[in-house]
Amino acid sequence: MKSYLLISDSDETAERLATALGSEAGQLERWSLAEVAADGGALITTPIRGRRPETVILGPDTLEQGTFALAAQIDASWPGVALLLVSGADAATLRAAMRAGIRDLLDPAESAEDWAATIATAHEAARAHQSASEEQAPEASAGPSSQVVVVLSSKGGSGKTTVATNLAVGLAAQAPTVIVDIDLEFGDVANALRLTPDRWLQDVVFGPARNDTMVLKSFVTEHESGLFAICAPERPEDAGGITGEHVAHLVQQLAQEYRHVVIDTPPGLAEHTLAALELASDGVLVCGLDVPSIRGLRKELDILGELGLRPRREHLVLNNVDPRGGLSVADAEKALGRDVDVVIPAHRSLRLATNEGVPLLRSTRRGRIAKALLGLVERVRAGAGGAS
Ligand SMILES: Nc1ncnc2c1ncn2[C@@H]1O[C@H](COP(=O)(O)OP(=O)(O)OP(=O)(O)O)[C@@H](O)[C@H]1O
Ligand SMILES: [Mg+2]
Repeated sequence: MKSYLLISDSDETAERLATALGSEAGQLERWSLAEVAADGGALITTPIRGRRPETVILGPDTLEQGTFALAAQIDASWPGVALLLVSGADAATLRAAMRAGIRDLLDPAESAEDWAATIATAHEAARAHQSASEEQAPEASAGPSSQVVVVLSSKGGSGKTTVATNLAVGLAAQAPTVIVDIDLEFGDVANALRLTPDRWLQDVVFGPARNDTMVLKSFVTEHESGLFAICAPERPEDAGGITGEHVAHLVQQLAQEYRHVVIDTPPGLAEHTLAALELASDGVLVCGLDVPSIRGLRKELDILGELGLRPRREHLVLNNVDPRGGLSVADAEKALGRDVDVVIPAHRSLRLATNEGVPLLRSTRRGRIAKALLGLVERVRAGAGGAS
């Protein structure tokens, strides 16, 4: 017997849904938003009458109240559920909805028959997806101990590439590590590591490497530290057609082969960054010690929270810290409402390292800058069990 759950305060939606379900309307359970909110979402993880619903419908009134976070929670708690959102959505909402695991939209402007057809299709697709993923589970998942680390920041020039390349070099000293540059337009991992790759990101996401790990591994560029790298396209025009889905597929492939996958990103939350975050075990949040950067980070964390994309482990790095700037680390912690994990002072050795294409940790492990970077390496390793 099928079971349906509607989470909504809208009587009109409930009536429309009952009409759409016809003889199955008796299997429809309804929760109010207040009920779901009351226990901080714990309700979502418990079965209803001993079983979990096969189809969950949200909205339309949930939109203002963290719908996507709720959807992501449902998707994670009840894998294989067919999630639908009542909304006549624009493209941005649609994209966010899909990322939160929502399968399709029920447009209030459509008829009850249209709704019935959409619900049936979503239900079938969820069921097919569930059985396919159960069959493929061992191959589809990342290696048991692999770690996907996304380095991100709301602002340009905050030190993402500096942090990502040093972190990757530090991790590579202990275990197989690959860095992927998904800053498609202005990626500069190749420069930061002074690499001259034969193959670039576009070569590994299109063509034979996509389906053949041996080919993929032969397409990565090796750095003299033992780190492997997949560099962003040399020219922005070569990045055409690379989608979030390409990035996700590549990250999954790499997670099978390398213990650590470090991902350098462009500023903000581009489609490719969101795709990587969906697979991330760790997020390294790079932030400057200035008001715009701190505000930007707060906003970024709010958005990721709403999308249900906050990584399991977060490492907050305050970079380029100069006490003469007027703000202290404590000010940043107060504004962000959380502790800063790593503080990297402003220092010309890092600028020099960028210009020379030699990450600081390749030339020294001494001094307060190297110590701060090594602190990050250890923090990230420890999160993965530290046993690399
Ligand atoms: N702590 C620091 N002290 C001094 N210079 C720094 C520090 N961190 C980074 N830099 C310098 O700031 C510049 C920008 O750093 P980086 O390229 O790592 O930033 P990014 O966030 O990757 O930039 P983009 O958004 O353009 O990708 C570089 O020249 C780098 O050497
Ligand atoms: Mg960069």
